[in-house]
Amino acid sequence: MKVHLHRSNIMFCYYSSLLIIASLFVPLSQSLTCPLVLKTNAQVERRLLNEGFHRDLETAVYLSSPEDLQSCLVLVKEVLPPGAYFDPSQLRFLKPFGGPDFYIPQMINVETPEHFSPRILAYFYVLPKPLNHGRWMVNVTVPVHFRYHRARSGTSHPLEVGVRLQHPAILLQCEDVGGDVCTPLAQLEPCPPSGYNQCEWLPVHTFSTSEAVMAVIPVGNTDLLDVVLLTTTCVTAGATLLILVTLKKKKIS
Ligand SMILES: *[C@@H]1O[C@H](CO)[C@@H](O)[C@H](O)[C@H]1NC(C)=O
Repeated sequence: MKVHLHRSNIMFCYYSSLLIIASLFVPLSQSLTCPLVLKTNAQVERRLLNEGFHRDLETAVYLSSPEDLQSCLVLVKEVLPPGAYFDPSQLRFLKPFGGPDFYIPQMINVETPEHFSPRILAYFYVLPKPLNHGRWMVNVTVPVHFRYHRARSGTSHPLEVGVRLQHPAILLQCEDVGGDVCTPLAQLEPCPPSGYNQCEWLPVHTFSTSEAVMAVIPVGNTDLLDVVLLTTTCVTAGATLLILVTLKKKKIS
């Protein structure tokens, strides 16, 4: 009997604490019933095409959702490191040829080297294409450029640097899905199509099967500076002498 009482006490304690914990979570889960955000996944896969300082960056996003994303617009939000940039005038030029709507809030200096350059924020606005049931995709393929890096000593440093482009964040803006339950989850980002004003966007969970893409950029070697200077001086002096000699010969003849 004693043991029995003891056990029921423990059970009571157990159930009541479960109840207390459950009641704590009920208001939270009620405010988080936005399936558009909670049940939509974005798989991001990227490739850097071509070689050298001027490349194409392909970003394929595969969305899967129980909601109909037909009325949604996708925002691909990029943050480029100081070693890379998008050229806004080039992107503007590409728009009539199928390039995406975009917004870049900063002035971009396309001349500055990496160590004098800021990170760059860029927003791309694209409509998703339906694939099969419950799946959509967007493909943003745009030119990306890499900046020159400060030359350094080849004896103490590798003469290449890797510039890594992190995967973008993916957000949605939908006309007839979402609704009030989603409003508390919205975040403010620039409005389509060109960033005028701030709009509410719903962030979706992203994942990827691939690492962030990386460009390997050659770096100038300061150890070669003496050699370069000496060679330039010799060649210039030699050429000058040659001209003088030729002129003199012509005068004589
Ligand atoms: C994305 O678009 C580019 C050109 O617009 C194309 O070459 C590429 O194959 C597309 N990628 C995917 C995964 O569809």
